[in-house]
Amino acid sequence: MIFRVFLAVAFATVMSGVAAAEPAVTFSKDIAPIVFAKCAMCHHAGGSAPFSLLTYATARSHATQIGEATRSGLMPPWKAEAGVGGDFIGQQHLTDQELAVIQQWVQAGAPEGEPRDLPSTPRFTDDWQLGRPDLVVTTPAYTLGAGDRGIVRRVLLPSSAPEIAETLRMVLGWAWTYVIVAELIGASSGIGHMITDSQALLATDQIIFGIIVIGLIGLVTDFAFKAFNRKLFPWAQLGR
Ligand code: HEC
Repeated sequence: MIFRVFLAVAFATVMSGVAAAEPAVTFSKDIAPIVFAKCAMCHHAGGSAPFSLLTYATARSHATQIGEATRSGLMPPWKAEAGVGGDFIGQQHLTDQELAVIQQWVQAGAPEGEPRDLPSTPRFTDDWQLGRPDLVVTTPAYTLGAGDRGIVRRVLLPSSAPEIAETLRMVLGWAWTYVIVAELIGASSGIGHMITDSQALLATDQIIFGIIVIGLIGLVTDFAFKAFNRKLFPWAQLGR
């Protein structure tokens, strides 16, 4: 009896060894044809999906995920209810047979198989997938349902506000200049007036002090304005 059990165990071990040496489902023979046809249009370098499925190495490193994503119906993505309204052009759902093959492959440890069984790798361009369109119109705000007032408030004003604030900053510089000029010419107080007075009294130190103070005030307000703009309009930094 014990001998028989031993024989059975030995037989099972040998058979499982044979099965492991000759995996039924391999990437080259069974999985590549499926993923090349139904996944690779997104799953290639530069495609919309986060990793390529054009090589065994990348498919293997995502094997468990592939098993889960196809079983749950997450991949390949198709928003319409399955089986309703017939098949659509470009619809790439997996057949039950294909789903089963993928599960077997994942369970078998994602074996590679013979490279010579591999179908030729499809090629993809980064260009328009359906040929160049005649016209490309980009009005995302309207497409997303914004009204005219919304466009003014949420698009036009925010997009021009940084430029307006930048112009205000420069105009503030001019304004300082005019204030000083007015003080130099015809005021009875202020830094400009002090400089004119010092000129008459030949007090060079006071003149230089006045000039430095004017420069510092200009510099400080300019930097403050700049920092304020940067804080107020962070999106303006994106395009710079
Ligand atoms: C229409 C384009 C498209 C097709 C076709 C497609 N995928 Fe994806 N796939 C994506 C995108 C985009 C993501 C990233 C989704 C995300 O991160 O939310 C993704 C993510 C995945 C993930 C990771 C899912 C996770 O758990 O994060 C797996 C695995 C996957 N795809 C496998 C497949 C397989 C297998 C096929 C073919 C049967 C396939 N995909 C077909 C676009 C596609």
